[in-house]
Amino acid sequence: MSMFFRKSVVATTGLFLCIFLIVHLSANSLLLLPESIARSLYNSYSTTLRESTLINVVGYILYLSIILHVVYAAIITYKNRKTRSVSYAVNHKSENSSWASQNMGFLGVLVLVFIVVHMANFWARIKLGIGESVGLDTDGYVDVYQVTYDLFHNVYYVLFYSILMIPLGFHLFHGLKSAFKSLGFYHKKGLRILAKISLVYAAVMAIGFGIIPLIVYFK
Ligand code: HEM
Repeated sequence: MSMFFRKSVVATTGLFLCIFLIVHLSANSLLLLPESIARSLYNSYSTTLRESTLINVVGYILYLSIILHVVYAAIITYKNRKTRSVSYAVNHKSENSSWASQNMGFLGVLVLVFIVVHMANFWARIKLGIGESVGLDTDGYVDVYQVTYDLFHNVYYVLFYSILMIPLGFHLFHGLKSAFKSLGFYHKKGLRILAKISLVYAAVMAIGFGIIPLIVYFK
């Protein structure tokens, strides 16, 4: 399998995951509203999504994308390490590539740790019914809002969620820039603009997801 194919898989799945994050952050922004409105909106929204066949199909594509992204990124990192097992005698690393680009594997592992814990906190409980059962709100919807509220009233989870948004931000910034290159954008000026878009996107995601736990904690 060619390196080009592997990079295209990582880039396309990565772009899909970036789109998912925009939708996910928009939905989670509901948590910032006053409790009386936030609870009913968040719970009815998440119930509607869970009951939609189309969204469930998109959900399976999402899980597959996460798996393919991780597997192919791991293969690329492994192959790159092997071919560069003898380090360069002179390598002005900081001049040749950014800190984030040299550490995508490590940043990716931190993001993966976050996703595994996050899926255990929400997805496993709500979708698979594993662990403590989730109650219903006064409208009869599964009370996902309460799950979030309880989780973010535990200071360790607040720190875990907020701090891990820093590596997520760097991973998204470099990942998005690389995805554009892997998918064939070579135009220099275009790439400079895409790099700026990637920076803004990564900052909005990291700050947005990072402040939600803090704000919910002080609610
Ligand atoms: C403030 C931060 C976040 C909150 C409150 C939050 C909340 C949630 C909730 C409630 C669900 C379950 C939805 C349901 O089944 O009804 C969920 C699912 C998920 N979240 Fe998050 N999330 C946050 C950040 C993130 C981040 C940063 C990522 C990725 C890096 C992420 C990735 C996912 C994935 C992949 C799922 C599974 C999608 C599915 O339900 O099929 N989340 N999240």
